Amino acid sequence: MVANQQSQRVAVIPGDGIGVEVAEVGVNVLRAISERFGFKLDFDWLPLGASHYLETGETLTDEMFDYLKNECDAIYFGAMGDPRVPDMKHAKDILLGLRFKLDLFVNLRPITLMHPEMTPLKRRGMKDLEFVIFRENTEGLYVGMGGNFKKGTPDEIAINEMVNTRRGVERIIRAAFEWAKSHHKPRVCMSDKANVLSYAHGLWQRVFKEVSSEYPEIQTRHLYADVMAMEMVRAPQDFDVIVTSNMFGDILSDLGAELVGGLGLAASANLHPGRVSLFEPVHGSAPDIAGQGVANPLAMVLTGSLMLTALGHKEAALFLDQCVQQVLTQGEVTADLRRSLGQSTEGALNTQAVGEALIQIIKS
Ligand SMILES: NC(=O)c1ccc[n+]([C@@H]2O[C@H](COP(=O)([O-])OP(=O)(O)OC[C@H]3O[C@@H](n4cnc5c(N)ncnc54)[C@H](O)[C@@H]3O)[C@@H](O)[C@H]2O)c1
Repeated sequence: MVANQQSQRVAVIPGDGIGVEVAEVGVNVLRAISERFGFKLDFDWLPLGASHYLETGETLTDEMFDYLKNECDAIYFGAMGDPRVPDMKHAKDILLGLRFKLDLFVNLRPITLMHPEMTPLKRRGMKDLEFVIFRENTEGLYVGMGGNFKKGTPDEIAINEMVNTRRGVERIIRAAFEWAKSHHKPRVCMSDKANVLSYAHGLWQRVFKEVSSEYPEIQTRHLYADVMAMEMVRAPQDFDVIVTSNMFGDILSDLGAELVGGLGLAASANLHPGRVSLFEPVHGSAPDIAGQGVANPLAMVLTGSLMLTALGHKEAALFLDQCVQQVLTQGEVTADLRRSLGQSTEGALNTQAVGEALIQIIKS
């Protein structure tokens, strides 16, 4: 999988809208980091996205998939979504296609407060907001099984099936416990709606109990998803690792992102340990601000940090996180973060300038 002993190959899929703008900054920052730490990353830019789809009709070809799977060490992904493709055909094929075909069953979303004033919660500081969400990424309500009956009539029936397999539930729960153990985090909380989804989430309850018995050193807790949303706001300091299903993880991680500064800082990794994995910011292609140069590149940069950790460059990743904290402290940020800080957006930096400020810190 590794291109050669000295270098690792990273496929860059900038995608659409601000994905392209933040990916450029992300790669420049990663280049600066790799130079400082003395390792080599080969970036291979792939044009997949709406424009390529509209020009060629291609989304994710078999050849491209085989290349990504067999010849790359990681995929660094911007965002997809373009008003010219209203059914999102390309994004479904490429992003969901990669998640499902590469079987990237862990969606890891860290919720970390990097600047004390960046949280909207009163009386909460850096130590109170430091947890990770393990979202199941290949099953649940997002598998696309279902259909319509009598579509467009007053008698229409619309169904989406929720899939939960024993194997799928067990591996995400086990991944959460393993992460807690290896990171010396003492608490794992599982969230579901077993009170109403008694069959599907009854399985989650049983598996959670079984797997947790193998980790006696870790404290376990269970919260229904609605209560979890309240508790994340009321007492975020009570969490280290949260493990949950696909849809609840999607929603709870956006809530978590907002607790620590918003989408402009939210990073994620789509993982299958031991296989090529995909790293992407939580945000989308933001057509409302695309092309204006105002997108916050820090979510993409922090996503790069998750990728560095997965590629074995942990020290470099920690250093990159510290550099991001420094630009936040120096106030060298885009307008969205100025708003989070309750500051005027006058004097906010553009996307490129944030990247340049970061690179200057990395090189200093
Ligand atoms: N993983 C992905 O590729 C992904 C994820 C979410 C949405 N999408 C797609 O993106 C498109 C837009 O979706 P949306 O508007 O619901 O979500 P979005 O995340 O693109 O934008 C939501 C809001 O947050 C702002 N925002 C997002 N990222 C920002 C950043 N880095 N800096 C500053 N502001 C930022 C946007 O301007 C917008 O007001 C849709 O086509 C959607 O399907 C793709």
